[in-house]
Amino acid sequence: MTLRIIDGGRNGGSAPGLLITGASQVATLAGGLRRGRSQGEVGLLEASGSGGAGSASAPVVATWEGQIVAVGPRREVEASLERSGYQLSRFARLDARGGLITPGLIDAHTHLLFAGSRENELLLRQQGAGYLEILAAGGGILSTVAATRVASVEELSAHGRAWLDEMLGHGATTVEAKSGYGLDLATERRLLEVAFEIGREGPVDVVPTYLGAHAVPAEFRSRPDGTEAYVRTVIETQLPAIAALGIARFCDVFCEQGVFTADQSRRVLAAALDFGLGVRLHADELAPSGGAELAAELGALSADHLTAPSEGGLAALASAAAASAGDGGARPVVAVLLPATTWFLMSEHWAPARTMIDLEIPVALATDFNPGTSPTPSLPLVMTIACLNLTMTPAEALAAVTVNAAWALGLEDSIGSIEPGKQADLVVWRVPSVNQLPYWPGGDLVRTVVKRGRVVLSR
Ligand code: NIG
Ligand code: FE
Repeated sequence: MTLRIIDGGRNGGSAPGLLITGASQVATLAGGLRRGRSQGEVGLLEASGSGGAGSASAPVVATWEGQIVAVGPRREVEASLERSGYQLSRFARLDARGGLITPGLIDAHTHLLFAGSRENELLLRQQGAGYLEILAAGGGILSTVAATRVASVEELSAHGRAWLDEMLGHGATTVEAKSGYGLDLATERRLLEVAFEIGREGPVDVVPTYLGAHAVPAEFRSRPDGTEAYVRTVIETQLPAIAALGIARFCDVFCEQGVFTADQSRRVLAAALDFGLGVRLHADELAPSGGAELAAELGALSADHLTAPSEGGLAALASAAAASAGDGGARPVVAVLLPATTWFLMSEHWAPARTMIDLEIPVALATDFNPGTSPTPSLPLVMTIACLNLTMTPAEALAAVTVNAAWALGLEDSIGSIEPGKQADLVVWRVPSVNQLPYWPGGDLVRTVVKRGRVVLSR
C-alpha cells in the first residue's frame, strides 16, 4: 500500500468539478448540531435495491470549485447538475470502490507543536507515578517546555508538517493546534506562527489556540506567589501581544486543581474575551475543579476532557445546551471528550459520555495529540476507544468527530457535513460502513482524502 500525496492537490487535470461515485454509504451528517437522540444520527445515504454501489440509486457526492454542490442518489444528482447548467464532462471522476464517504474529520483539540518526546513517563506510570506528581517534579509539561523553547522554527515546522500528514492519513482535514509549550511570550508566539504557517501551506487547515496558561513555568515556580505572578504575566503581557499578532482564534486554560484554579482561569479567559478571542478550557480532567461551570458561565465554545465534572458542572452544561436549543439562542458549550488520554494515562475514570448525551449536552471527540498523555494522531482510534470505554455508538462517535467538532471550533458554517455550500472536505474510507470505522483499531482505513475539492491523498 503506497501513500501518495498528490502534489498541490490536483485532480489529475484541471477539472473544476469532482464526482465521487461507487460508495456503499455516504454519511452526510447534514442537519446541524447533534445532541441527545440526534447524537447518533449521521444522515446516512445508501443504495436501494440490488445494484449496490454501482446502481443509479447509489449515493454520490459532487463538488465544484472546492465546494459541495450535490449529494444523493446518482441519477438524481446527475440530472440536477445538468438542470443547473453544469456540464458533467467537466467533473473528474473518483470511484469510491464500495467504500464509505464521510466529511473530512475534524480534530478539535491537539497540542500539535512541541519538541522532544516523553516515553519515560510511560515507564514511570507503570511504576505508579501520577500525572500531576510527574509535573510537580519538573517533568511532564515542563520537560516539553524546556525542549520546545530551544527548538527552531524549522524544527517545529518539520515536526508539525510530519504529524499533520499522519493526521491526514487518518482522515483529519482540519486540526486545532494549541500553543502552551512555550510559557514565555517569545516561544508562545513562535508556536502560533508555526501553526499558522503550516496551516497556510495546507492541505490540512490548522486552527491556532493560545494556551499560555497550560502550566506555571519553572522560572515562576521558585517564587512564593509564582502561580499568581504567572497568571498576571499571561493577562498583562502575553495576551495583549498574542491578540495583537492576530493569529490565535481561541484562548485555552488548564483549569484543574493543582494547576490553575477556576478563579485564575476566569480572569485569563475574561481578558481573552475582551481581546475578541473565543474561549475553551481543559476542564475537570483529573478532579472536579469548577471547569465545566466556568465554561458555561463564560459561554466557552467547548469544555474539554470532563473526566471528572461535578454534578453542578454537568447541570450547567445541560442548561447551556438547553438555552442554545431555542430560537436565536446562545451557542452551546460542546463537551470535547478525549478518551485516548484516559487510556494512555492508564486511568479508569472515563468521561461520563452517556450521562452527557442523556442530558442533551453535545459531545465531540478529539485526539488531544501531545507528547505526554496522548501521542496518537488517529481520530478513528479515538472513536474505537469511545465505543469501547464511553459506550458511544459508532454513529455517535462519527458525529462527534465531524459536525459537533465543527461546532466546537465555530466552523459549522463551512465544514463538518456533506451539504451543498459547504467546503468539499471529504474522506473515502476502505471500509463500507459507519459501523466498521471504529471496528479495526489501528488500521489504515483511509483510501482517499479530498480537501477543498482536490484529491490530496490516495492509497
Ligand atoms: O490535555 N492536561 C493538560 N494538557 C495536556 C497534556 C499536556 C502534556 O502532558 O504535555 C492534556 O492532556
Ligand atoms: Fe489537551
